[in-house]
Amino acid sequence: MPPALLRVLLFLPVLGLVAPAARGQAPAAAPASAALTRDAGKLYTQLCASCHGENLDGGLGGSLVDDLWSHGDGGDEHLARVITAGIAGMGMPAFGEVLDAPRVRGLVVFMREKAVRAREAGTTYAKPSAPDTVVRSRAAAFRVETLASGLGVPWSVAFLPGDEGLLIAERSGALRVWRDGVLAPAPVEGTPKVWAQGQGGLMVVQAHPDHAQPGNGWIYLAFSDPGEGGAAMTAVVRGRIRDGRWVDEQDIYRAPRELYRKAGVHFGTRLVFDQGYLFFGIGDRGAQDQAQDLTRPNGKIHRVFDDGRVPTDNPFASVPGALPTIWSYGHRNPQGITARPGTTGENLAIWENEHGPRGGDELNRVKRGANFGWPLITYGMNYNGTPITAETARDGLEQPVIHWTPSIAVCGLDFYTGTRFPGWEGNLLVGSLKQQELRRLVLEGDQVASQEVLFRGIGRVRAVQTGPDGLVYVCLEDPGRVVRLVPAE
Ligand code: HEC
Repeated sequence: MPPALLRVLLFLPVLGLVAPAARGQAPAAAPASAALTRDAGKLYTQLCASCHGENLDGGLGGSLVDDLWSHGDGGDEHLARVITAGIAGMGMPAFGEVLDAPRVRGLVVFMREKAVRAREAGTTYAKPSAPDTVVRSRAAAFRVETLASGLGVPWSVAFLPGDEGLLIAERSGALRVWRDGVLAPAPVEGTPKVWAQGQGGLMVVQAHPDHAQPGNGWIYLAFSDPGEGGAAMTAVVRGRIRDGRWVDEQDIYRAPRELYRKAGVHFGTRLVFDQGYLFFGIGDRGAQDQAQDLTRPNGKIHRVFDDGRVPTDNPFASVPGALPTIWSYGHRNPQGITARPGTTGENLAIWENEHGPRGGDELNRVKRGANFGWPLITYGMNYNGTPITAETARDGLEQPVIHWTPSIAVCGLDFYTGTRFPGWEGNLLVGSLKQQELRRLVLEGDQVASQEVLFRGIGRVRAVQTGPDGLVYVCLEDPGRVVRLVPAE
């Protein structure tokens, strides 16, 4: 008898685990699930590794990472069902008596992580670290050109009209001006003080869509605003730049001071302008349950007028106690929001991506008044490998268009709207911090038809934006620089 099988036969009775076919009689009362670890990786080692291998690549039971399935389609539901109910007559034990649904969910997430890592180990990705490297992606060839380096941590760029160049927001709060290939050595003077700690800082700089119109000139900033006693919350202001100084500042959104939080995580955000409205997101600020609480600003997408007034027709404007700026809720940490080109007003289609926990990064279509479910439903689990919930869907809660499990740590989101890469027209560009990737998503209607990794491994991708010149601008971290993708032959 192979030693692995012997080991299994020895421990199965201890756990009360016997494949239904081999059982012959009703099982003794199962040990309470509570006695088992909640850590999915440890559960796998204890319960599954002896048959499916330490690396999930198979043994007595088949490989769980080759994406070849004999007993279903490999979807979440199939995997959870097999773990819970076993496979009669095949030697796959039923674990439903010892594992509660959240633990089963944790194992599914764990299997997904391992499968993706196994697949990636056999794949090479474009790494355009030299300026003359040509990347031949499926629909266009490009080079990566560095515009500005020697930056701190760049988090956003704004395009100014004509030959006025670019504004670059650094995490520290510095607002830099780039023009004619030169980065002005001194930042714009007098910009607001930001809480640049943890995940906080100067997150967004963006010009008003009518910036070039006489009398407009507005530049918007979104940042983590320091409150009292080390607390902070996402805020939005606008102002103008005159002679290298930040002037005419106006508050566009500030949460009530008492709702600021001391956590250093999950601030959001990006900005979408449409017909005099401004949309932006605030992450849950580390308080997941508050994403469901309409008296709190965190974990929400908000809608205000672009001068800061609050529309009276927002979905919760007349709900007692609810914050009137809330547009949608149940968001964990929005990292990109953008409007689909050609949509506006009643038909405005806002797409958003957000960080899940460990697994469950989401791409969403934001809808008025909708609940996106965090933390009641999620495709992810806690960072320590323990489950949050078994529920991935529930009536009345929105489903993501897609989710990334394992998480890629999505950051930045924009539609490609230019003419320089005709093959990318209407595609969604998605950055990734952890995987250091830029992805291109091809949509069919409101579905994602395919994804391509355009490049990987030249820095954490914080922001991606189509420039007015049709080139794709990307903020990279470590080392901080702003690059752009230019067509190549
Ligand atoms: C006693 C050995 C044994 C243990 C322990 C065991 N499995 Fe299995 N498992 C099997 C066998 C045998 C099969 C059927 C393989 C086949 O038909 O190719 C199977 C099948 C599966 C399948 C379905 C594969 C498919 O192709 O559809 C999944 C998923 C799975 N196991 C996951 C797990 C997980 C997760 C654990 C731990 C909680 C676990 N197994 C523990 C032996 C085991």
